Amino acid sequence: MSKTVLTGFSIAFLLFSSSFAIEGFRPVKAKNGMVVCGEPIACNVGLQVLKEGGNAVDASVAVAFTLAVTYPNAGNLGGGGFMIFRNAANNIFALDYREKAPIAASRDMYLDSSGTVIDKASTLGYRAAGVPGTVAGLWEAHKKFGRLKWKRLLAPAIKLAETGFVIDAFQAAALQSATEDFNKFSSSKTIFTKKGEPFKTGDRLVQKDLSKTLKRIAKKGAAGFYYGKTAGRIALDMQHNGGLITEEDLHRYKPVWREAIEGTYRGYTFYSMPPPSSGGIVLSEILNTLELFEVSKMDINSSAQIRLWVEIERQAYADRAQWLGDPDFVENPQARLISKKYAKTIKQSLHYFSAGCSDSIKVKPIRGRESDQTTHFSITDRWGNAVSNTFTLNGNYGSRAVAEGTGVLLNNEMDDFSIKPGFPNSYGLVGTVANSITSEKRMLSSMTPTIITKNDSLFLVIGGPGGSKIITTVAQVISNVIDHKMNIRQAIENPRFHHQWKPDVIFMERERFSKDTRNNLENSGYKLEYKTYMGYAQGILFNKKTKTYSGWSDPRSDGKAAGY
Ligand code: GLY
Repeated sequence: MSKTVLTGFSIAFLLFSSSFAIEGFRPVKAKNGMVVCGEPIACNVGLQVLKEGGNAVDASVAVAFTLAVTYPNAGNLGGGGFMIFRNAANNIFALDYREKAPIAASRDMYLDSSGTVIDKASTLGYRAAGVPGTVAGLWEAHKKFGRLKWKRLLAPAIKLAETGFVIDAFQAAALQSATEDFNKFSSSKTIFTKKGEPFKTGDRLVQKDLSKTLKRIAKKGAAGFYYGKTAGRIALDMQHNGGLITEEDLHRYKPVWREAIEGTYRGYTFYSMPPPSSGGIVLSEILNTLELFEVSKMDINSSAQIRLWVEIERQAYADRAQWLGDPDFVENPQARLISKKYAKTIKQSLHYFSAGCSDSIKVKPIRGRESDQTTHFSITDRWGNAVSNTFTLNGNYGSRAVAEGTGVLLNNEMDDFSIKPGFPNSYGLVGTVANSITSEKRMLSSMTPTIITKNDSLFLVIGGPGGSKIITTVAQVISNVIDHKMNIRQAIENPRFHHQWKPDVIFMERERFSKDTRNNLENSGYKLEYKTYMGYAQGILFNKKTKTYSGWSDPRSDGKAAGY
């Protein structure tokens, strides 16, 4: 046999022999650091910061400010969020920079005199905005953990706002969908439309006022937003347009370091966000209960697996609605809900042979809603520090109102409060008095930035947008990795399903589950509802043996994973 033939045989053998495994569905791999985020320009900015010697927090600051420019749908200065930070010594920090209700806010502020919810009052325009927390949060994280100069980290965002960036198809479609609303506010119309007409792919989005605001923040830190010109302009525009936020509200805003929710899942330790996010508690309930079953022996995406998850989620989301709210105002029964003992109680009450019934779980609901237009980034650096950060304006472009002269899009996060008893929203989420509006209270969230370790070594950094579906998205990725031994790309790309107690339906991604699975579920009494996609996870796995990061940005959206 000639040498060439032999070589051909050898290659064929190597490729097809099971002893030589080339990893399929390859994620992005890197040794020194990784940025996974929902928008490619911001991802590149973060990577450059890492390469210049910045740590994961530095890169987070640069990515977040850039997203405020290049991804105005959810990236923001005028919103809020949560960050979980793990340093290389395995210390965990949880930063709450969630928005707060303005001082003048009150429980029934979105109801008319007959007690009816005023259409769009909590979603559109100035009155829908909570006091923003993002700038204070990023400033706080940088003060405590940053290495590079604050000004350096804001420089890319300032430039992108000043000279503009080319609008891609994704951004063009999103801007178009909001153009009618932008036209209701002269400040928004000037920036986010072309004289009232929607921007198109290839146009340039220039945000001069935003670049000036960013320059003030670069120079003065958080004071460049919460005091002086920026604060004055926000307050004045609020006053002119029926909003409630005053300069005093802005002066009083403080981010809060909280104790992360800590739990274990099959020998791994997870850290996630405590209230005012429901993420960590609901995630704990789901994982603690799931751990009582041999999930790895179940066929993934089978009706048996989905039924188990759904019954667990039903109880976890009912607890969310019943109990959770801002811990500075209400007592959350956190210790009980996240205990392994409580998971055993849930296990005993689960339905195994037919669909459970949400009405059999008694909760006195209040209306509350959550949008899925949030954004998440996961970042790791060469030292082993890791950031999992989710932040938001709530709806796509928040309240759609830009504070005149600042370029700052205001959030519509007030809509995350429970507004009225017994009135389910478009997402069907309901809550109780624990999440009712009170002056200076933080509204309940589902954001679930999460970090997982194994034997004190970094394992997984995960999170994503998706409104109420964030928590189940994160839980499913975690189980896919730990129980089903998927790599980060497979775990993120796997089809998703979701149940949130009310409405009593299983949401499933369309065309992604077999007919058998769907028939089995329906024959067991479940109602199915189809969605094009659910959640965009952004994750990084760390392989301790090879000291390699694997990252993947959910193909359900337009993000990017990049490392070096
Ligand atoms: N606004 C979405 C959330 O906080 O969960």
